[in-house]
Amino acid sequence: MAGHLFAALLIAVHSFSPAIANDPPSTITIAPEARQTPYYDLAKRQAFTTYETTSALPLTDYHYPYDGLPPQINPYRMLRGPQFGVNQCNSSTEGPNSLCQTIIMNNISDFCLWGSPDPNETIADTEAKVVGYCTKPGHGTRVLPPGVLTSVQFMTTSAYIQVTGHINMDAINLQADDTGGELDPHGDDGQGNPLGGVIFSNSIPPTATDPSNSGLVQMVSWNLFVGSGIYCMKGCYGNVTSPNLCLNTYDLIGCLYNMPADYTDGEFTSCEGELQDPVGIYTSNGQTLTWSQPASLDPSTTLPWTPRIPASSNCVTYSSEELFGTISVSTTGSASTATEVSSGSGTAAAGSPTNSAGRLVIGSGLFALLGAVVALI
Ligand SMILES: *[C@@H]1O[C@H](CO)[C@@H](O)[C@H](O)[C@H]1NC(C)=O
Ligand SMILES: *[C@@H]1O[C@H](CO)[C@@H](O)[C@H](O)[C@H]1NC(C)=O
Ligand SMILES: *[C@@H]1O[C@H](CO)[C@@H](O)[C@H](O)[C@H]1NC(C)=O
Ligand SMILES: *[C@@H]1O[C@H](CO)[C@@H](O)[C@H](O)[C@H]1NC(C)=O
Repeated sequence: MAGHLFAALLIAVHSFSPAIANDPPSTITIAPEARQTPYYDLAKRQAFTTYETTSALPLTDYHYPYDGLPPQINPYRMLRGPQFGVNQCNSSTEGPNSLCQTIIMNNISDFCLWGSPDPNETIADTEAKVVGYCTKPGHGTRVLPPGVLTSVQFMTTSAYIQVTGHINMDAINLQADDTGGELDPHGDDGQGNPLGGVIFSNSIPPTATDPSNSGLVQMVSWNLFVGSGIYCMKGCYGNVTSPNLCLNTYDLIGCLYNMPADYTDGEFTSCEGELQDPVGIYTSNGQTLTWSQPASLDPSTTLPWTPRIPASSNCVTYSSEELFGTISVSTTGSASTATEVSSGSGTAAAGSPTNSAGRLVIGSGLFALLGAVVALI
């Protein structure tokens, strides 16, 4: 049944993917002109002399303290650069037109996602230039109104932090049926999607990075999927190098396979969790097997395993209002969005708990798969 639905949805979605999956250079969004004068700190300028005429460093080579971020990490006019937005984000960059591309992943009430800068877009068309949308003001980004996240699970583990859930796509300027894709700090040219995109967290245990660390620390290894109404984001600690649980090579198989979790809509929980299995590795008849993602997935493909959802403990359950405040009932455009959102999650919560949860988990997985098919590495 699940396999059948899986195949049907892959077929439904497959028509979106060929142009994108097979033709990256011409379809990757070229970031527009730099917004400001290129910035180099003097020491780095020396080191970059050769890169300025050849290539920026891979995005994963740039490490900063939050307070030491340059205006733009990638001001280079090469490959797809310079980046679209800015990395120094503060009260002067905050608001509905923010171009801040530094995002935060602190806890269940304080995190950000990336979305399109302009309305009615798709991740495929905007992945190079997505901008930050945060649950709270204070990070110099656009701010998500209460009610647009209809579920959140924040998971803390010994190797990574992860946040997953459901979102009203319109709130981050994506088309409701955009199947989305993967964002990560790699990409074919190493510049990442978005270019210059960085994630900071104040929830990384000091022992996982630098014992002197306190406050916001940059996560250098991460990935994020958003599409078809679900999102998932994971940041790996620097002290855990093997296995790599922030792989970016399974970009066609979405949230369910990359970040198996409880995607029940309408629930807001923060938990500690066991580690997930490395993506693509599974056991069959007592043998450990590895599935490698092909360059494209045939619509009839059924993956040979179902991901194990890691055990969780010490879960704290919240209401949306506790975390994000009360949904506004004014007569503005966002109020009609909020109404749709709350009636949607009401319906989801209405069924019998078991059936409802089972149905929703499967549904989310399919959405995740759907969301992942047009992803670019
Ligand atoms: C805020 O950020 C902008 C660029 O993103 C920068 O030009 C400005 O100096 C910053 N302001 C403060 C007070 O740091
Ligand atoms: C999340 O972190 C913010 C500060 O980063 C803090 O104010 C808030 O209380 C935390 N929320 C939870 C639910 O832990
Ligand atoms: C959104 O874009 C699609 C095609 O890209 C278009 O058909 C649709 O009319 C647009 N919707 C709005 C509200 O602009
Ligand atoms: C990494 O740091 C975390 C947090 O302190 C810890 O739980 C984990 O065991 C560490 N892993 C390794 C391999 O040192």
